[in-house]
Amino acid sequence: MRTRPLKVALLGCGVVGSEVARIMTTHADDLTQRIGAPVELAGVAVRRPSKVREGIDPALITTDATALLKRGDIDIAIEVIGGIEPARTLITTAFEHGISVVSANKALLAQDGAALHAAAEQAGLDLYYEAAVAGAIPLIRPLRESLAGDKINRVMGIVNGTTNFILDKMDSTGAGYQEALDEATALGYAEADPTADVDGYDAAAKAAILAGIAFHTRVRLDDVYREGMTEVSAADFASAKRMGCTIKLLAILERAADGESVTARVHPAMIPLSHPLASVREAYNAVFVEADAAGRLMFYGPGAGGAPTASAVLGDLVAVARNKLAEATGPGESAYTQLPVSPMGDVVTRYHISLDVADKPGVLAQVATTFAEHGVSIDTVRQQGRPDGVGKEASLVVVTHRAADAALSGTVEALRKLDTVRGVASIMRVEGE
Ligand code: HSE
Repeated sequence: MRTRPLKVALLGCGVVGSEVARIMTTHADDLTQRIGAPVELAGVAVRRPSKVREGIDPALITTDATALLKRGDIDIAIEVIGGIEPARTLITTAFEHGISVVSANKALLAQDGAALHAAAEQAGLDLYYEAAVAGAIPLIRPLRESLAGDKINRVMGIVNGTTNFILDKMDSTGAGYQEALDEATALGYAEADPTADVDGYDAAAKAAILAGIAFHTRVRLDDVYREGMTEVSAADFASAKRMGCTIKLLAILERAADGESVTARVHPAMIPLSHPLASVREAYNAVFVEADAAGRLMFYGPGAGGAPTASAVLGDLVAVARNKLAEATGPGESAYTQLPVSPMGDVVTRYHISLDVADKPGVLAQVATTFAEHGVSIDTVRQQGRPDGVGKEASLVVVTHRAADAALSGTVEALRKLDTVRGVASIMRVEGE
């Protein structure tokens, strides 16, 4: 056992950073045994030095993260600042100074993962980021290492806890979006500005990272099709229930059937109650993986929060520290397949479309013809007269068979132009069947 400690710089000491520092202190002996050398918290870079940080020696606190990385004795940096800058420059500085990096920064990895991996590889250092996707759930390492001998065809996950909490509330109580969001905010699940979560940006960043690893290709954030969940209504949940479904905000990553391309998307979708993801309640995350040899796997657990995210960071710290001692590095970026990312229009899926239509002869035929003209086959149709209708109106719900998303959206566009279609009340994809 080596007695000289590996020195760790903690960049950021918020909700996650303070838990990392706490666990490093309380579990110090176990970490030493597991790594084969002690790991010492050698400096903590923060923005607000005057804030009281229980359990952290004030002498370790600095506001100068760059100087901490440049001082010459740091082995590993843990970046839990989040956002693009200054995190990107600090990680690059770490690599320039021989320091391996553990990061929880999904936005940065999704945007600049390729450049950061290249910088790490050039310097012969590690870049680990288990905590960047789905908090405590082991996902990056299982995809990158445990399943490295298999072929992953599909990843479908709930990777945002805030939106899952909101959708679960809507499902279980019949509440509307705003009411459920208000509850999520009051309970601390949603931020004061929930845009990143409810508009799907957070999930899209995680989707880009997962797609790259799952398919050994490069998927940029801009490659991920994204729709938020702010338009999901209580009426959508009522429709979903009638179909034996619930609604989830899903990140779906697929390898095309011919294996020549991939797709990556985030949007709300109906899934059958029998699908394992349907039972993921409250703010939990889960990711369903389909692989050639392994079959179907599901990874489930807390996707956010200080201690759960710190658990993933600490796991990376142990792995990177072991690599340091072995004078080796772990797996870097694997993007050898260089598969193109197809546009959303190429995705093959099903639609649930709810229309407000005039209730008179020939309307159903007109609607059905519009689907046929776009090559979209209808699975089921349900029509209901509307007691509140102005004149004679009905609600028409059409569920399609699988078709290209471009054909489905072309159908909806054409439906909107029909005189007899008074409005398109909702459009939702149906997945997981
Ligand atoms: N805001 C995210 C969520 C957690 O609600 O899941 C951090 O990615």
